[in-house]
Amino acid sequence: MSAAIESHRPLHYGPRRHIAAIRERLDALNFDRFEVVPQAPCLGGEVRGVDLSKPMDAALAADIERALVEYKVLFFRDQKISQADHAAFAAQFGELEVHPFLPEGASPEVIRFAKDEEVVGVENNWHSDVSWRQVPSLGSVLRAHEVPGVGGDTLWTDMEAVYDGLSDEIKKEIDGRVAIHDFVHTFGLAMSEEDRAEKRKEFPPAHHPLVRTHPVSGRKCLYVNTIFTSHIDGLPDDESRDLLARLYQEVEIPEYQVRFRWEKDSVAFWDNRSTQHYASSDYWPRERVMERITIIGDTPR
Ligand code: SIN
Repeated sequence: MSAAIESHRPLHYGPRRHIAAIRERLDALNFDRFEVVPQAPCLGGEVRGVDLSKPMDAALAADIERALVEYKVLFFRDQKISQADHAAFAAQFGELEVHPFLPEGASPEVIRFAKDEEVVGVENNWHSDVSWRQVPSLGSVLRAHEVPGVGGDTLWTDMEAVYDGLSDEIKKEIDGRVAIHDFVHTFGLAMSEEDRAEKRKEFPPAHHPLVRTHPVSGRKCLYVNTIFTSHIDGLPDDESRDLLARLYQEVEIPEYQVRFRWEKDSVAFWDNRSTQHYASSDYWPRERVMERITIIGDTPR
């Protein structure tokens, strides 16, 4: 073998076989009050037969929550909902959070992402919402108000599939380890040193296990992300960087992902405990206006 070939990074050819079990589990699911049409083998289902502008009884909300845990991201099309409907839907699943750094919509729990020529889309790195909080998010509900004709898709990746696909050696390496999550490398960048120090008191770095167990499904998920995880506790900087880089490569594997093409009035509801997402920033200088409501979750364990 030539030196050039030997020094090439290891490549994976062929099937990611563990996806077959995920697909079979999803194929076996049934919901009485709505249909879920799978959008990719690991995650992502379009829910048909639910009108988010109508009050929801507890049984329907429980079934949607079951679908969320299994499909990890649910899509709803043509939902002509008010902001109150949006908030009422999200509030069925937990307490709503107020984001301390992102621009607010008509009420404090609504985050408004209004992008155009001046305000550009910067959510194009893989992340799980607010993992820098001591108690991060259960899930987020994002609604499209204005979308470009093409572009501005959002991608999600299945962090359970990512974990299950890791080699036994990496699983052993990360088992029991804790990562530090911090807002300073994202929201902190635009702050003065003083403001950052003040906010740091309010939002100190969070310590979360690299592998968390989903509180409902009991399945394991990898829980580190490119924008909020600063380092792995107890490792020298270079080793922490190297291990995180290897893990982030796994997050980028297309077989674990679903990509959603937005239309006006589409809604996505995703589980932040078991997914990460990436908003493609390929539509500049066009307009893209979205509103997100985030639901508070539990302490990762
Ligand atoms: C986000 O990162 O929550 C925003 C996603 C998007 O705008 O598609």
